Amino acid sequence: MKNQLSLITGASSGIGEEFARQLAAMGSDLILAARRMDRLEALATDLRGKFGVSVTCIPVDLAKPQAVQELFHRATENGNEITCLVNNAGLGKYGSFVEFPYEDHHSTLQVNVVAPTELTYLTVNHMLGHGKKSYVIQVASISAFQPVGNFSVYSATKGYLRYFSETLAFELKGTPVQMMCLCPGGTYTEFFEQSGQKITQSGKATMMTAQAVVSLSLDALFAGKTVFVPGWLNKIACFLPRLFPRNLALFLAFKTMNRAVEKISLPSRSPESSSANTRISGR
Ligand SMILES: NC(=O)c1ccc[n+]([C@@H]2O[C@H](COP(=O)([O-])OP(=O)(O)OC[C@H]3O[C@@H](n4cnc5c(N)ncnc54)[C@H](OP(=O)(O)O)[C@@H]3O)[C@@H](O)[C@H]2O)c1
Repeated sequence: MKNQLSLITGASSGIGEEFARQLAAMGSDLILAARRMDRLEALATDLRGKFGVSVTCIPVDLAKPQAVQELFHRATENGNEITCLVNNAGLGKYGSFVEFPYEDHHSTLQVNVVAPTELTYLTVNHMLGHGKKSYVIQVASISAFQPVGNFSVYSATKGYLRYFSETLAFELKGTPVQMMCLCPGGTYTEFFEQSGQKITQSGKATMMTAQAVVSLSLDALFAGKTVFVPGWLNKIACFLPRLFPRNLALFLAFKTMNRAVEKISLPSRSPESSSANTRISGR
């Protein structure tokens, strides 16, 4: 990845932050995007110092309609050529569909579906234009294989990302752009707290660290995988539901999830509330 330029959304914590760390360690320059600029700037200072790479931070709220256009414009100004895109920013609200205000579902659809689709459209055209070997990683979830009750909109958005990535990878065969859909299972990040979940003792036993997820997924990307599920437990969780009738698979997924997490009240995450967010990535 030396002399490459990677654009990572949701780089202010968790899996996105870890992509930034591992791609910088491989020599890639970075463009980091998220809402919490203080987090991005602190990460950028750390990575410039450790790896001597160039890092640009762009504040963006991907739930806003014009956000992707503005992000892409800023990321490609001055003739920048992006050679790696990690569409990682994502969120979900854990609980019954009808209990949330509809605006919450709208934000989830915007950040998890509309924004990565639009950013992929703009960036893949840009990559085909400059013609250099390039990579796109869409961060979905194992819920793209088996939806989970209490996570209806979230699961559906991840299912969309998987279908989108698989078909686009097929369409892009023979071009310099390689696409991979990453489907992690439970990973120690702030995601749970932000989605209104608390991990139980038995849930903790099945979690992976963001470092392991990203390291395995970069190996898978360079090995040419188009869909990648990190960790053998997660692979089993994606395969098993194929053996059951759909209703039984839904019931079992719901039960398993209930054993792994408890529902808690949702914190608010905004640039202003940044200091209230603690880092729990297990580093
Ligand atoms: N952790 C898991 O168990 C797990 C499992 C499967 C898949 N995933 C997926 O992995 C991806 C990363 O999640 P994570 O686990 O690393 O959780 P996380 O630590 O909560 O990170 C989520 C990232 O998304 C960004 N984001 C959220 N809303 C945004 C918005 N409106 N505009 C711009 N950026 C926004 C956040 O940045 P700001 O808040 O600073 O904007 C943050 O950097 C997500 O797509 C998630 O669905 C996670």
